[in-house]
Amino acid sequence: MQIYKVGGAVRDRLLGKPVTDIDWVVVGATTEDMLAKGFRPVGADFPVFLHPKSGEEYALARTERKSGRGYGGFTFHASPEVTLEEDLIRRDLTINAMAEDDQQNLTDPYHGQRDLKARLLRHVSPAFAEDPLRVLRVARFAARYAKLGFTVAPETLELMRQLSESGELEALTAERSWKEISRALLEDQPQVFIEVLRECGALKVLMPEVDALFGVPQPEAHHPEVDTGVHTLSVLEQAALHQQPLTVRWASLLHDLGKGLTPEEEWPRHIAHEHKGLKLIKAVNERFKAPKDCQELALLVGQYHTHGHRALELKPSTLLELLQSFDVYRRPQRFEEFIAACEMDARGRKGLEQRSYPQADYLRGAASAARSVAVQPLLEKGFKGPELGEAIKRERLKALKAYKEQA
Ligand code: CTP
Repeated sequence: MQIYKVGGAVRDRLLGKPVTDIDWVVVGATTEDMLAKGFRPVGADFPVFLHPKSGEEYALARTERKSGRGYGGFTFHASPEVTLEEDLIRRDLTINAMAEDDQQNLTDPYHGQRDLKARLLRHVSPAFAEDPLRVLRVARFAARYAKLGFTVAPETLELMRQLSESGELEALTAERSWKEISRALLEDQPQVFIEVLRECGALKVLMPEVDALFGVPQPEAHHPEVDTGVHTLSVLEQAALHQQPLTVRWASLLHDLGKGLTPEEEWPRHIAHEHKGLKLIKAVNERFKAPKDCQELALLVGQYHTHGHRALELKPSTLLELLQSFDVYRRPQRFEEFIAACEMDARGRKGLEQRSYPQADYLRGAASAARSVAVQPLLEKGFKGPELGEAIKRERLKALKAYKEQA
């Protein structure tokens, strides 16, 4: 048997990037050969094995053919006769379809090196279309390598467009899609992921609520970029520049969905968009089964981001409601993430990227004022049950009034 390093490990070594996990392909072997060498099978009927020591993935060289919709609809053929070239041709991108032996000799039948030099994400063959997840993968690679100057080859974009129009994307499971989306959002330039999906028509299928924001104007006084879609991409860009966590990036992407529902006669104003957007945010959250912390933050940011911007003008009673909604006493971290998302929203506007955001410290101060109310003296006064709750709220309100006066 011959063993080759394949895929991302080869690509990233040639790009001079750190290699994290290594995938191997094994040519000229049977399942029995692998088991005899102590490899552990990954699934009952999939020709992928884990190395007994390193735990790295070793796959038998295989050909694949699509037999139905979605990812389940695959038949594959793994046998010792399948050649390295046959295995490489079923892969997604030329830059991912190179193999290397233990002497670092490269096998590159589909010109991955040429495309690395040309900074092109190009599909290997029409077999690309056999896995619709690849539309998301290419957009994710575009986001990751944008700063190196990579773009999607026009013919690959065209194939992605056809796949998006074919209805194939609807067959993707929430889990597979979310894995790509979350990884893409954590890249350096997550806005490129959304741009590429939009360009090939996949955004309209996957997140029509986000796609609908492009072409929707906002008042120029607050939003020099005017277009709500452009603004959303800038907010995401800021979130990445400021190294915000996934929760904040997800909330950044979804915070303004309500603006896509405004009747044209009301443009460029978006009255109550915060509230109107909630059902859309909920729908996107559920479509991809986003983790609970992402879902929660997106909904809270959607509902309260304009409160964040107006923090300094809010009445103490409104400030208290805001803090209560976030349960800032038990969930301080979530409130910090809300503040961060508001700040990214404020900076994700053309020419205002460097603006200061005094609301952030003001909100932090308000949270600590409310949190400083001690419960023990109220218990000592004999408050119990719902009355205790009311008494705590009254004290917190007092603390917030004092805070606002001295601020
Ligand atoms: N691959 C593919 N189509 C997919 C998934 C994977 O063709 N839908 C192939 C590609 O050759 C890819 C390899 O399998 O390089 C390994 O896939 P994976 O580990 O998911 O990605 P990497 O390319 O290693 O990229 P990353 O750095 O994102 O892990």
